[in-house]
Amino acid sequence: MHELSFLYFGDIVGRPGRTFLTKYLPKLQSQYHPTFIFANGENAAGGFGLTYSIAEELKRSGIHGISMGNHIWDQKGFWNEIDRMDYLCRPANLPEACPGKTYIVVENQSVKVALFGLLGRSFMNIPLNCPFKTAEKILKEIKARGIHNIIVDVHAETTSEKYALGWFLNKHAVTSVLGTHTHVQTADAHLMHQNTAFITDLGMCGVARGILGFRIEPVIEKLMCGKPTRFEVATGPSMLNGVWVKFNAAHGQATHIEPISIIET
Ligand SMILES: [Fe+2]
Ligand SMILES: [Fe+2]
Repeated sequence: MHELSFLYFGDIVGRPGRTFLTKYLPKLQSQYHPTFIFANGENAAGGFGLTYSIAEELKRSGIHGISMGNHIWDQKGFWNEIDRMDYLCRPANLPEACPGKTYIVVENQSVKVALFGLLGRSFMNIPLNCPFKTAEKILKEIKARGIHNIIVDVHAETTSEKYALGWFLNKHAVTSVLGTHTHVQTADAHLMHQNTAFITDLGMCGVARGILGFRIEPVIEKLMCGKPTRFEVATGPSMLNGVWVKFNAAHGQATHIEPISIIET
């Protein structure tokens, strides 16, 4: 059996998230020996969106592929920068007119892995195509290229939508369905039907003592009395959250999923 593995990290929040992840990555590489490393980068630039230079910095640290989420266009210039990055995919079910790749293919040790992201539609206030229909269309394209190792980042608010997409994608024999967006790692990492590695949410990489990686006080003020406030990335010890997934590269079936959660001491 040709068993390989990958690491996937949840939403990277601001400089603290980037710094802790890139600092810790060599240790995780020597512990898990992953063939591929992926991360969600939708909050990597000051908590809101991503820039070309930060994406390049993440790539240099060893990350092979980056998925995004609803914060994709928060950094003004990213719309024009996105097509420069062949290692990054935008959520696939954004309207067709949006720039960026709907999926990417990463190759290492002569093995190809395809990655794409989907945005859930519950409580997501942006124009979106159907994530199920979009997934079917993209899977057709990927499979026509003979690629069967497929990872999907499901960036959604509700656990029900994530499970619905998880089972739907399991029927289409994808390797792994990994939830992002809620920034808190869930305790349900498992193999769906013994072949699709699933978790409702990977969690985030960012400051541990905060609210989803942001300073506590402005969030409380906003929720308590609607005070117009700017959310800022928190400071202090960070954490990183993700999963390690083993898969059979000959068939694209996952064989093991293990959550990773490390807090800076
Ligand atoms: Fe996020
Ligand atoms: Fe998000």
